[in-house]
Order: sequence, then structure tokens, then C-alpha cells
Amino acid sequence: MEAPAAARKAETELTVTSPEQMRDLGRRLAALVRAGDLVMLSGELGAGKTTLTRGLGEGLGVRGAVTSPTFVIARVHPSLGEGPPLVHVDAYRLGGGLDEMEDLDLDVSLPESVIVVEWGEGKVEELAEERLQVRIHRAVGDTTDEVRQVTVTGLGERWASADLDALAG
Ligand SMILES: Nc1ncnc2c1ncn2[C@@H]1O[C@H](COP(=O)(O)OP(=O)(O)O)[C@@H](O)[C@H]1O
Ligand SMILES: [Mg+2]
Repeated sequence: MEAPAAARKAETELTVTSPEQMRDLGRRLAALVRAGDLVMLSGELGAGKTTLTRGLGEGLGVRGAVTSPTFVIARVHPSLGEGPPLVHVDAYRLGGGLDEMEDLDLDVSLPESVIVVEWGEGKVEELAEERLQVRIHRAVGDTTDEVRQVTVTGLGERWASADLDALAG
């Protein structure tokens, strides 16, 4: 008998062994997300959060190169087609947490956009109880190593029946 959706854990773990694979993972993620989704990326500097977001942007078919938003906190990439825009947020420089996030009017675009937040933990959870959490860990401490362990967790009803296993490619 199938477990009820609420009891099922929407979580998958993947091993990624190169930047190209991380980008591919982002492309596959694009097939799972839709307008209104919040994706929270965590992992140390250089883990591959922006690389993953780049693939996501490609998969969604949005305009503009996804880069580390060094001088801006958030960047909007409009769709080149009919899909939702990608809002890419780098919360690293947000000192004030949610107060500052609200100034970005993120909650306004949330229903229409796919929002990806780097470094959002402890800052943007209130934006959406339902969210996809992507945690990227270096498999070994060595910063020259390309192996990453990626844990994707779907929180809330939205993700209860999502096919996260499709991310394995
Ligand atoms: N498996 C991997 N996945 C993603 N990036 C990797 C991987 N292995 C090495 N890298 C390198 O690590 C860096 C990741 O940078 P970036 O995506 O900007 O990280 P973050 O946004 O988490 O700080 C890039 O220079 C990339 O080429
Ligand atoms: Mg980054």
C-alpha cells in the first residue's frame, strides 16, 4: 500500500562530479519547478549554487546570463518564451534578513516567478512554507575536488508528490 503523501519524504540525494553535471542538474530541475516555487540553495562559497542556477535558467529558457549577483541582491531573468521569469537572489549580503527581503518586493513576484535564493537559510523561510531546499556539500574538504553531494528536499504539499527522483537523470 502506498504511503499517504504527507508521510512520504520528498527527498533525494545525488552525487555530482563536475560543474557540467551541476549545470545539467539545474536543467532537470527546470522541468520540475513552476511559477510560485521557491528554491533555496545552501552550501559554502564555491559549492556550486550559482552553477546550478545557471542550468536552471537555461532549462527555463530565460534571458540573460546567470552570474553571481555581486552588486545586486536580486536579478530578474524574464522568460524568452511563455514560462515564468527566474528571480535570482543572493541573500549573502542581506544583513537584516526578512525586512530587507521585503524591500525587494519578492513576495509580490513570488506567485508569478520561480525564485532561487542563495544563502537564504534563516532569512527567507517565511516567504514560503512550501519550498525546495537544495543543499550542496563538498564530498571531501579539499577545495580542488569536484565531487559534490546534493540533497534536495521538498517541503509542503506542493512537493509531496513531486518526482524528485527525476533529478537523478
Ligand atoms: N561538481 C561541481 N559543481 C559545481 N561547481 C563545481 C563543481 N566542481 C567544481 N566546481 C567549481 O566550483 C565553482 C562553483 O562556483 P559557484 O557556482 O559560483 O558556487 P557558489 O555559488 O556556491 O559560491 C566553479 O568555479 C565551478 O567550476
Ligand atoms: Mg553564488
